[in-house]
This record gives sequence, structure tokens and C-alpha cells, in this order.
Amino acid sequence: MVLSRVLSITLLPTCLKRTARLIARRCMATRHFRRTLPPTVLSEVFAGGRTKKFASADFGKDASAGSDLQRAVSFVPPCLKEELLCKFSEPVRDCCHKVTVVGSGMVGIAIANSLLLQNITSHIAIVDAFPKKLEGEGMDYSHGSVFLGDPRIDFDTDFCITSNSKVVVIAAGVRQVKGETRLDLVQRNSEIYKNIIPTLVGYSPNAVFLIVSNPVDILAWVTWKVSGLPACRVIGSGTHLDSARFRYLIADRLGIAPSSVHAHIIGEHGESQVPLWSGVNVAGVQFRDILPNIGLETDEERWYEISKEVIRLGPTVRCLKGYSNTAVGLSVGDIVAAILNNSQRVIPVSTLIQGHHEVCHEIFLSLPCSLGENGVTNIIRMRITEFEKKLFQASANVVYNVQKEIKT
Ligand SMILES: NC(=O)c1ccc[n+]([C@@H]2O[C@H](COP(=O)([O-])OP(=O)(O)OC[C@H]3O[C@@H](n4cnc5c(N)ncnc54)[C@H](O)[C@@H]3O)[C@@H](O)[C@H]2O)c1
Repeated sequence: MVLSRVLSITLLPTCLKRTARLIARRCMATRHFRRTLPPTVLSEVFAGGRTKKFASADFGKDASAGSDLQRAVSFVPPCLKEELLCKFSEPVRDCCHKVTVVGSGMVGIAIANSLLLQNITSHIAIVDAFPKKLEGEGMDYSHGSVFLGDPRIDFDTDFCITSNSKVVVIAAGVRQVKGETRLDLVQRNSEIYKNIIPTLVGYSPNAVFLIVSNPVDILAWVTWKVSGLPACRVIGSGTHLDSARFRYLIADRLGIAPSSVHAHIIGEHGESQVPLWSGVNVAGVQFRDILPNIGLETDEERWYEISKEVIRLGPTVRCLKGYSNTAVGLSVGDIVAAILNNSQRVIPVSTLIQGHHEVCHEIFLSLPCSLGENGVTNIIRMRITEFEKKLFQASANVVYNVQKEIKT
């Protein structure tokens, strides 16, 4: 039936073919704008015998030429876009800073906010398995484009919109429920990852993959295994957020700015994380030179309480507001900026740490790394104490004991 229609249209005289095209264009315009367009010459033509009532003076300047039908066909309402824009070339579809965010939940949207509000990228694609919230969020962003420097914002459940991304951030998955540890989440989220990673890699084979869903260290490893990508191009957001919380709490106690406190947390993004008290300093002044047992249980000033507080902060925020998203969104934005700018900035992120600090397992944990367009370019060989090394190895064992149960 479709074929016969096509054939019959093909055999139509030129003027009728043009008529058909015009009707199609008008229908499309009506659908697109979802409003009734004013009657035109075409509606007159196809109103059945009413063509003769058509008054040439009412429409276009060529109305006096030829038969009624020819005249009617000549009176094409101008298409504003075609009248206004003289096409010179096709725009580039995917800009060179394109970032995909998978998951339009609380964390995914906080990441998108961080990327767009700080002008870290001008092209973002947001995908999610469930259309309703995705569409609402996508529309909301689009309506704010004017205030964001006109970024391109794509959103769809179809992963094809992620093609040619420079960075793919994954914050999809299920959230931690009360009483559940990050490691308990692993099986549920790794199943989701096994489904989505091959598709994402297919669309953006050259991207750096940045994993945010928890347990982030194990899911970064799952991504690396499933994707077949070089290890440098798979990164977990890791302890960048924990380190920021660590710096904030120390700074708060001293009454100085958090950015002036230099401190790192390494290991698991979770309860076995390792605060490196041996390296904490302000303006190069090592805290350990002033207080040799800082961070240990013997420390009378009880600075070690800060490390325990860092672990409690995530659950506390979740308990108070139902989820945690703003700080992680900002920390992920910071990592993405370092990658897109090829800055080689040193940030603690989750990477393949096999062989570092005498860990032999094939696992991802956080260590300070320099980051650029190709992902991790260097892992910093940290000078840590024997005690900190033991804690790091213990953290590796915690993660490995869960990871080894997963089937990839
Ligand atoms: N790394 C960190 O520092 C950190 C901090 C906070 C939260 N998180 C983690 O981030 C993840 C997301 O948290 P949230 O609060 O945004 O959860 P959320 O439930 O609000 O959002 C998760 C989103 O993932 C989507 N999703 C689920 N399966 C999908 C699939 N197969 N494909 C595409 N989308 C899919 C859901 O539709 C939902 O929109 C969780 O795993 C959470 O534990 C990590």
C-alpha cells in the first residue's frame, strides 16, 4: 500500500508533487508547534470545490498567473527559518568538549549542574533508563540555556545521543539504602554496569570513563574489565570528595580556608579509607613536625576524630536530606575539568593500583594521580608511613574480598 502510494505520487505531474510536498510541510509545522495555523491557499484548494472562492488579492503577488490550481500552488506561505537563514554549512554535531552524564538522578543532575554552571563544557548529553524525570530535567536545563551561555543539552533514553563524548560520567544505579554499606550495593549496580558499558563504549570508544556510582572502586574495576579500555581511561571519582571533606574539617578547626589545607585521603571510597596525616600541611608546614603523633589514638588533641567524621559525613548528609549530591557533583566537575583541559592536575582518584604500596590484587583504589585528556597520566609515589601503608593494604583487602565474588 505504501509502495503504491509512493508510485502514484512519483507519477503525479510536477505541480501536484509540489502540492503534496507543501501539504506535508504544513502538516509538519502544525504538529511541531502544536497549534492551529491560519488557513492557507492549500486548505482552500483541498476544501473541495471551494477553490474558485479563493480571492487572489488575499494571498501572494503571483496569484494572477495560470490556472486556479497553479495559482494556488504558487501561494506558499514563507517558511521563516528558510527565509531567515541561508545555509552555508552543516553545524558540527558533537563538540570537542562533549560530556555524557549517565543517570538523571540526584547525583547525575548535581554533576550536570556543576559542569554547566561552571562552564566546564558547552555540550552535555544526559541519558537515563527512565524517561519521565530525564525529560523534566532536560527541559528544565534547556529553559535555562540563555543564562548558561547557550550550551547544547541533549537528553534521551536512547544512548545514541552520547556518541563521540570526550568524557562519560556514570552516576546511574541504585542508591544506598539505610543500613546498607557501599560494598553491599555492588551486585545490584554491577549488573546495571554490565548492561550499559558496552553500548557506551561503542558510541564513544575514545572517551575517558569516570565512574561515580557506588561502590565506586569496584564499579570502576567492573567498567575496566567489561569495556576492554586501557586502565588509564577508566577512573573512579574515588576519594576526591573525602579529601575535600577532610580539608574542610581541618580548616574549620584552624579557622582558615579549606583550599589552603593540603591533605589527602587514599584507599577505598568508603569505611576503610586512609587519611594521610603524615602529609597534612599548611603552606608547607607539616603538622607532623609540630605534633608527631597527629592522627593516632595517642594524639591528645584528638585530631583523629576528624578522620572518623569524614566517614560519617556522607551518611549524615543522606540522613538529613535523603541523598547526597552537591559536593559529589562539584568534585566530579573538578575531575572532568582536569581531563578536558589536559591540565595534568594531581587529584586523588580511583585507579588500577596493582603493584603500588605492595598491593598485589588487581583492584582500583584512590591514590593521587595527574589527569589529562588520556585519563590518568601518572600515579604519585606517595611517601607514606609504615602504619599508613598497612592501612592502605587493609583497605585493598576489604575491596578485593568483595570484588572477587563478582562474575564479570
Ligand atoms: N562516588 C560518590 O562520592 C557518590 C556520592 C553520592 C552518591 N553516589 C552514588 O551515585 C549513584 C546515584 O545516586 P543518586 O542519588 O543519583 O541515585 P538516584 O536513584 O537518584 O538516581 C539513579 C539514576 O540512575 C538511573 N538508572 C538506573 N538504572 C539505569 C540504567 N540501566 N541506565 C541508565 N540509567 C539508569 C535511574 O533511573 C535514576 O535516575 C548511587 O550509586 C550512589 O551511591 C556516589
